[in-house]
Amino acid sequence: MFADLKDAPADPILGMAQLFAADPDPRKVDLGIGVYKDAAGDVIVLDTVKQAEQWLVETQASKGYISSAGNPVYNDAIRALIFREGSDAHGRARTVQTPGGTGALRVAGDFIHRLRPRGRIFLPDPTWANHPALFTAAGIGIVTYPYYDVATGQLRFDAMMAALEALTADDTLLVHGCCHNPSGTDPDAAQWAAIGDLLAAKGATPLVDLAYLGFGQGLEEDRAGIAILAGKVREMIVASSCSKNFALYRERTGALTLVAGTPAQADAAKGHLLPVIRANYSMPPDHGAAVVAHILGDAGLRARWESELTGMRTRIQDVRRRLVAQLDGRGGRDFSYLAEQNGMFALLGLSRDQVQKLRNDWHIYATDSGRANLAGLTAGNVDYVAEAFAAVSHG
Ligand code: LMR
Repeated sequence: MFADLKDAPADPILGMAQLFAADPDPRKVDLGIGVYKDAAGDVIVLDTVKQAEQWLVETQASKGYISSAGNPVYNDAIRALIFREGSDAHGRARTVQTPGGTGALRVAGDFIHRLRPRGRIFLPDPTWANHPALFTAAGIGIVTYPYYDVATGQLRFDAMMAALEALTADDTLLVHGCCHNPSGTDPDAAQWAAIGDLLAAKGATPLVDLAYLGFGQGLEEDRAGIAILAGKVREMIVASSCSKNFALYRERTGALTLVAGTPAQADAAKGHLLPVIRANYSMPPDHGAAVVAHILGDAGLRARWESELTGMRTRIQDVRRRLVAQLDGRGGRDFSYLAEQNGMFALLGLSRDQVQKLRNDWHIYATDSGRANLAGLTAGNVDYVAEAFAAVSHG
């Protein structure tokens, strides 16, 4: 079975972490995989997470199975994080815990394919590098729609709406709820409303990838697009993650939320989701969800977590502005658009050769697509990175 296998290609994002780790140069800068780094360049454990873990060690009495839906307290807390409590959408939503946002997307893919076997999924161009592989593995046909123009740093809204005319009631539209990965560019409120109107007219289902809630403009602001969509359509699916906003990356803490036409329909839909999970990984890992449930359920811890999240968000906004200030007057590509985008990621608009130059000559690691995780910038490396961006974009 294995004898004829050649070396497998590295994952476009995870492979970057291995290359970075193997580089001995002291100037090296990791702008690859999407993790938040603090001002010292470290991937930290949040204080609130440490405190909740301590509480868990002291109080957890059993490691018995829970269920395919995971931790019910976590599920309720995540539902209320995505949809305002008391809102119509909150009442029609049901959440299950999943192994990370990726697990949520894969379960969503399997579920969608089971319910709409002929349906296609429309993915933005560009999108997260794992989306096509993940939905292909679930057996769903993929259509791409124009989303972002790397040359101008602008949303291709008109082209996108024209392409989405092809949606049918069997199809699913994947949108990034906030902090679009990789472009950092999101629709505004009027554009979200237009997308919602189009979905309602076509009868297609939105699948919202919500991996960066709180990393754009704030918790409330970042869920505004989803709230607008939910006001326009009867049904939607949200795949969310606590990897970034709770910095729980390796604990694989995510959720899948189904919104149906009525609360009873939502209960029935959730019932049909559970066997999909059972046949996949049976049930999600507990630890991260237990930690998040405790933080969100304790008023003091929650307030402290919100300020930790604000700290992460504002640090990224600050280094974005600092980078643009450092690039000013150096010539090369105009990178000023980087200052106002949302979340960790940006497309640098560099060719593959220029990205290679960044890696080989400057020891700066972005993905081959020219995506940079700007959360990897610190006061100690931002001037060096600006010098490198200007130098490679000249050539
Ligand atoms: C990223 O886009 O870098 C993150 O979402 C991590 C991953 O799993 O790819």
